[in-house]
Amino acid sequence: MSFFAVSDSALAGFAVRAPGPFFVYSRSAARERWDRLSAVLPPRVRLAYAVKANPNPGLLSLFARGGAAFDCASGGELDRAARALSKARPRSGSRAAASGGEEAGPGNRIFYGGPGKRAEEIRRALRLGARIHAESVEDLALVDRFSRKPAAVNLRIHPAAGIEEGSRIIGGTGPSAFGVDEENLARVLHTAKRFTRVRIEGIHVFAASNELDADRLARTYDTVLGLSRRASESFGLDLRQIDLGGGLGIAYAPGEEELDIEALGRSLRDLLERNGWFRGELVLEPGRWLAGPCGVYVARVVRVKESRGVRFVILEGGINHLLRPLLTGQPFPVRAFRADGTSVEGNSGPATLTGPLCTSLDRLGDVLLPGLDAGDYVAFGRTGAYGFTEAMGRFLCHPEPREYWTR
Ligand SMILES: Cc1ncc(COP(=O)(O)O)c(C=O)c1O
Repeated sequence: MSFFAVSDSALAGFAVRAPGPFFVYSRSAARERWDRLSAVLPPRVRLAYAVKANPNPGLLSLFARGGAAFDCASGGELDRAARALSKARPRSGSRAAASGGEEAGPGNRIFYGGPGKRAEEIRRALRLGARIHAESVEDLALVDRFSRKPAAVNLRIHPAAGIEEGSRIIGGTGPSAFGVDEENLARVLHTAKRFTRVRIEGIHVFAASNELDADRLARTYDTVLGLSRRASESFGLDLRQIDLGGGLGIAYAPGEEELDIEALGRSLRDLLERNGWFRGELVLEPGRWLAGPCGVYVARVVRVKESRGVRFVILEGGINHLLRPLLTGQPFPVRAFRADGTSVEGNSGPATLTGPLCTSLDRLGDVLLPGLDAGDYVAFGRTGAYGFTEAMGRFLCHPEPREYWTR
């Protein structure tokens, strides 16, 4: 798949509709991502789209029709997921259609996690029938307080060892605000005995981010199954679900190899075979892999200037719309086109892409670009995930980017 899900001429068509930067999402790309990933996973693996990657309602509806569950991390995400699920009629042949659709209500396709859940959010999640990922004794106490009947929860564990992380975003095995430290498990489970309405029936571990190496993911999943088995045997937990989190990576630069999802599917099949003790379901919560390649962000060039030998291409949008390059040091793939939709090819050398904000932090990357003038456009590929929702939208009161859909 190309880095750009939408052609330059189609992008130019959106650019002339109204001024200002915008995102375009491709419906066919989103469907293709969902279908490809669903097809390689064994039936005992459930897919829950991580809403934080992109909560656009169109995207949620499309995944909901394909049979998605949703991983939510706030009251706002819970509301969006519930809305998408209650409106979605499953596509024929989809995972939802195969499992009997919505009979059990939308809540059985929602997970609710996060290190700082407020009491009201836990109450709302329980009312919806969502599965809570408890990350502390306090979470368990709130589930106990608000449930009217025994509630199955997953306990998020922060492993003590055996996690290799390529990117350092989630934090490996260092100190973490997420989950219960593995070494404190006995204490937490002992305390949890007081909570008579809480049934710990699942384990959740999320320990990778933008991982492109299927073998490394497989080794992490092995660690998680080992940890789950020890927890089940030592503490008598009847585990029905093991949630392996998200972290499936996508390439952002030429030459980077895409994650081999067929290999991922094979290693999950193998994992289930080797762990005959576990009869329940695995859950994957990918966000970036599903949504990232479906989106393109476009901003018009407002100035091109040179300062002490550096070419600055200044755009109408910057870190108020895309923060990831600043956080990770990795630019999104870029290309350029003119207002009439013709692509601007070639390479006039390095340029620093900046936005319009009055801060030197407002940089979208040092990249190779063709010769550009004010009025041309720069398109950023793979921006369907962790785009505007992760950015500093209100900083300097520029307009928010618009969002469009195309085939
Ligand atoms: C608990 C949890 N699940 C899933 C995800 C999605 O991760 P990704 O978009 O890398 O697949 C995240 C991202 O931070 C997360 O915190």
